[in-house]
Amino acid sequence: MVRLTGLKKIKCSVFISGTGSNLKSLIQFSNKKNSPISIELIISDNFNAKGLKFGKIYKISNKVFNYKNKSIAEKRIFSEIKKKKIKLICLAGFMKILSKKFIKNFKGEILNIHPSLLPKYKGLNTHQRVISNGEKYSGCTVHFVNSRLDSGKIILQKKVKISKGETAKSLAKKILIQEHILYPKAIKKVFSL
Ligand code: GRF
Repeated sequence: MVRLTGLKKIKCSVFISGTGSNLKSLIQFSNKKNSPISIELIISDNFNAKGLKFGKIYKISNKVFNYKNKSIAEKRIFSEIKKKKIKLICLAGFMKILSKKFIKNFKGEILNIHPSLLPKYKGLNTHQRVISNGEKYSGCTVHFVNSRLDSGKIILQKKVKISKGETAKSLAKKILIQEHILYPKAIKKVFSL
């Protein structure tokens, strides 16, 4: 756990590619008085990401980077987060894998949320694979990011029961509700005021 002194909040950037419902829940969490983080920047690789609207709604700056050339995109992102003195990156449905170099050079914490009970079901198409395998439970995990996909140290997990007749869509919906609770909890566990 990183103990913070006084009321200095950790400057955070959230990386998204799509809907941004986790982004929204993180913004609402950061706006609470006793939250240890302040969200200063939203980063995306997708100009059409729906979640970018939350930047406008909550008046947080948005930056979208063209990922045609990953190494150039990462260099630009790096300089942006350095400029804003970002010390925490929260990946929230960000569909690009950060390079080893980026992870090594960033002097702060990088967290990710994944919709399964890691180490099970890393990668994409999680819910369908869980259902096809006849699992009784699934869930979500917040973990530190390292250079291997969905493999960093686990911070918190929430288990969700799979109902009879569950579909990938209904399971995704159920788990997403828990993700919105779990991500702020995990941040509180890592950083405390
Ligand atoms: C979430 O299920 C998250 O766990 C996964 O991608 C999804 C993003 O959803 N990595 P949203 O964009 O936060 O609504």
